Amino acid sequence: MADPQDVKDAEPAPAPTERRPLPGAEPAALTTGRVRDARVRPAPKVPSWVLKIIMAVTGTVFALFVLVHMIGNLKIFMDPEHLNTYAYWLRTAFEPLLPYEGLLWIMRIVLLVCLVAHIAAAVMISSRARASRGTHKRRGMTNLRSFAARNMLVTGTVLLAFIIFHLLDLTLGKAVAPSGYQHIENGQAYAYENVVASFSRWPVAAFYMFALLVLFVHLAHGLWTVVQDLGATGRRTRAVGLFLAGAIPLAILLGNILIPIAVLTGVVK
Ligand code: HEM
Repeated sequence: MADPQDVKDAEPAPAPTERRPLPGAEPAALTTGRVRDARVRPAPKVPSWVLKIIMAVTGTVFALFVLVHMIGNLKIFMDPEHLNTYAYWLRTAFEPLLPYEGLLWIMRIVLLVCLVAHIAAAVMISSRARASRGTHKRRGMTNLRSFAARNMLVTGTVLLAFIIFHLLDLTLGKAVAPSGYQHIENGQAYAYENVVASFSRWPVAAFYMFALLVLFVHLAHGLWTVVQDLGATGRRTRAVGLFLAGAIPLAILLGNILIPIAVLTGVVK
């Protein structure tokens, strides 16, 4: 039997073929992997890493808002006046330092700026991803995590539609609001009565429950991406990040979905 060493000696490794840059490509791209030549790929005005940071920060602001909002909503299980007093307090908080509804308007402006930045960054990132992928199609990823990842634009659009519906329904009392919607009057808010009136319409309650499930899928993938994009490394940090990325959306889902269920079953009336 031939000595493996002899075989190795007898067959010298083939000389590496010379790599030449394609016409118009930057020669350094072969070694660095980065294409800088503006004729091949013009440098984007906003780098993708900046877009990812914008998405991560604005997404975290949304997650914190929905978490606090859910905790406030749970007051519906105490008694009507708890939720109504809270709704009125939101308008008079920090008076006279802030004007009437000052805190609400600060929150609305922050949320609106975050929403515009989040959507703009999402559209830019996904169109860049599509351009880089070309005609190649991803295959073989069918679990829930990859479903959430692939459908972030779809779930995000459903959530945008839900937010518009929800503002008309319970904040503005317009168009889709229940008949008998009551606006704040003489220091009295009617958030409790409005929520009960709205969720007593079962298609509306079903739409809220569907939107809350969509929110769970969107938030769980989004928060896990935040952990990655803000650079969490290390086993323990990533384990805590993964836990929070599941626990926060789950708490938001359970805390909120109980409300339409409670109204439909007559536990809250
Ligand atoms: C069962 C679930 C929910 C209930 C019962 C609920 C209830 C309410 C109520 C009663 C208001 C009006 C508060 C007021 O005018 O004092 C409100 C406002 C609002 N809710 Fe919800 N909400 C729910 C889920 C959500 C979700 C999932 C989101 C976000 C994705 C959301 C975002 C908002 C926003 C942005 C406002 C407007 C705050 C403002 O500018 O006055 N809500 N919600």
